[in-house]
Amino acid sequence: VDMKNREKFRPVYHHTPAYGWMNDPNGLFYKDGVWNLYYQHNPYGSTWENMTWGHATSTDLCHWKFEGEAIEPDALGTIFSGSAVVDKDNTAGFGPGAVVAYYTSAGKAQTQSMAVSTDNGMTFTKYADNPVLTSDIPDFRDPHVIWYPQGQKWILIVSEKQHMKLFSSKNLKDWTFESDFGEGYGSHAGVWECPDLLDMGGGHWILVCNINPGGPFGGSATQYFTGSFDGHKFICDSDPSVTKWMDWGKDHYATVTFNNAPNGRHVALPWMSNWQYAAQVPTKQYRSANGIARDLGYFEYKGTGYCSVKPSQEILDAFSKKPQASLTPACRVDVQLRGNSVITLSNGKGESVTMTYNAKEEKFSMDRTKSGMTDFSTDFPALTTAPTYGKIKTLQIFIDKSSIEAFDANGKMAMTNIVFPSEPYTKLTVKGGKAKIYNLKR
Ligand code: FRU
Repeated sequence: VDMKNREKFRPVYHHTPAYGWMNDPNGLFYKDGVWNLYYQHNPYGSTWENMTWGHATSTDLCHWKFEGEAIEPDALGTIFSGSAVVDKDNTAGFGPGAVVAYYTSAGKAQTQSMAVSTDNGMTFTKYADNPVLTSDIPDFRDPHVIWYPQGQKWILIVSEKQHMKLFSSKNLKDWTFESDFGEGYGSHAGVWECPDLLDMGGGHWILVCNINPGGPFGGSATQYFTGSFDGHKFICDSDPSVTKWMDWGKDHYATVTFNNAPNGRHVALPWMSNWQYAAQVPTKQYRSANGIARDLGYFEYKGTGYCSVKPSQEILDAFSKKPQASLTPACRVDVQLRGNSVITLSNGKGESVTMTYNAKEEKFSMDRTKSGMTDFSTDFPALTTAPTYGKIKTLQIFIDKSSIEAFDANGKMAMTNIVFPSEPYTKLTVKGGKAKIYNLKR
């Protein structure tokens, strides 16, 4: 098979499928030093079809190795999104350390199915009694399983139309309905998809709810709720009419976290595109990348709880310690801000991306309307704006061929946008701050 890269837009330190279409990250888990990423994959072409779980592994969250197709369509349907857990204590009886994956079988109906791997996620055997969960609501998908140590049981959260359903189990096979969450809370402008449930410590929980459409700048985006969870019911602790967004760009979707990550970390991976134009972006060999891995946390600002988002340490470690003189197509720019600031990336073709920080209004924005190729979709040109919940001191900008991800180094603001400059940006100008450029280590 010819896996030679044919795309000038293919990123260097982000995961992309070697070939074909990709959407959501699925079945993320960490075991024995290896990060496993499965993904919604079309092994036959670069548009959405034939959903299969593709598989890639990494030891540093930057370099990924394609491991082939892990779970393929069957009589119950194609293989939609889901999750995986490492069953250390052998609660399901498949052996200690077995990897148990949950996914949606998308056939005439959407039902939840299970598959088991006893070789660290390289190959899966489907459970004989699939499907494990059914519903008479047509949109019923994306099961996410977590271990709830306080109750010595598993919790499965799954989206159903515009709310989430929670189930519990002692053996990963038989599930008891616990509760519903969602009615009257957050945005209902689209279908709720790809949930996650995170214990942030100190009694704080975050329920992740991807939604399409209804994002802050159109199309798909990741909302979340803060609150408590007692093993039965998630109770939101915030104003139900306020929607909280995890990332304020246009290209952050289907974000979920790795099971069994080291030190209890919540490491999340987004799909770096938007359903509005994912099939129109100007790449052909593959479509769509994942965003960089981010560590999620919890913070409060003016009495309200929020999810913090920081680039994972593994990603920061991928860059050399010594600053470089100029911009390269795959680099990181750290900007020490002194107040209002305007940061511009541009190339010799007159294409540019402008980022603006307004210290007084506590707002950060990114304008990609002149970023390069934008006319493949009227939804693509955009100016995205984020609240910064306080002042930003250090801004971290990750540039990788066709993406720009900006973070407040303290985790209070994340913004992910893709761009298609006809030539890489080579010029950086900063007003109101001091920038340092870091290149990838070899
Ligand atoms: C989200 C989603 C999921 C579904 C999958 C299908 O992007 O629509 O709800 O499982 O994509 O590929």
